[in-house]
Amino acid sequence: MTILTTARLRLEPFDDNHFEGLFRMNSEPEVMRYITGKPDTPEDTLAMIERIKARWSELGYSWWSFFELDSDEIIGAGCIQHLGRDIANPLEIGWRLRKDKWNLGYASEAAKAMAAFAFDRLNAPSLYAVCHQENLASAHVMKKLGMQYRGVERWYDMETAVYAMDRADWLARQ
Ligand SMILES: CC(C)(COP(=O)(O)OP(=O)(O)OC[C@H]1O[C@@H](n2cnc3c(N)ncnc32)[C@H](O)[C@@H]1OP(=O)(O)O)[C@@H](O)C(=O)NCCC(=O)NCCS
Repeated sequence: MTILTTARLRLEPFDDNHFEGLFRMNSEPEVMRYITGKPDTPEDTLAMIERIKARWSELGYSWWSFFELDSDEIIGAGCIQHLGRDIANPLEIGWRLRKDKWNLGYASEAAKAMAAFAFDRLNAPSLYAVCHQENLASAHVMKKLGMQYRGVERWYDMETAVYAMDRADWLARQ
C-alpha cells in the first residue's frame, strides 16, 4: 500500500481508523453537491471504506485520505481508479476536500502526486477525470494539472465533462 507525500500533505490508503475524518468531510452537503448530490450517512462512508480497502488489496491503488501535515487531520481524499469503477476502462483521477480547506491549492498539490503515481509507477498510458458540468472548481484543477477537455459523456449516472491527458502530455510538463 503506497503512501504519497507532498509539501503539505500525506496521502494514506483508506483505513478503518479514517472513518471520523472522512465522514466529517462526506457529510458536508457542499462537498457532495456535485458528487452524489446528498451528504453521506455514516453507513455510506463505512461502505466506501470497505469497498476501497478491497480495491487496494486487489489492485494496489484506489483512494487515499489526505492528512494535512500541520494538523495531522484528514482534510480530503482522492483516487486513482478506473472510470466507472470497471478495470476494463482507463485510469481516472479524482479528489474532494473538506470545505474549510478549499482554495488553498491542496487539490492541485495532491493531484500532482497522484498523477505521478499513475504515470510513473503504474505506467498509465493516459489519465482521465470527469466532473459534473457545473463543477468549475474541479474542472479548473483538471486544467491546471494539464488535462484537456474531451467533451460530455455519461458517467456515474450524470452527464459529465470529461478531461484527459496522455503520457506524452504528462512527460512534457515534468
Ligand atoms: C474541487 C475541489 C477538490 C478543489 O479543491 P481546491 O483545493 O480548492 O483546489 P485548488 O485550490 O487546487 O484549485 C482550485 C482552483 O479553482 C478555482 N475555483 C474555485 N472555485 C471556482 C469556481 N466556482 N469557478 C471557477 N474556478 C474556481 C480556484 O480559484 C483555484 O484556481 P487558481 O489556483 O487558479 O486560483 C474542492 O472544491 C472540493 O472539494 N469540492 C467538492 C468536492 C468535489 O466536487 N470534488 C470533485 C468531484 S469531480
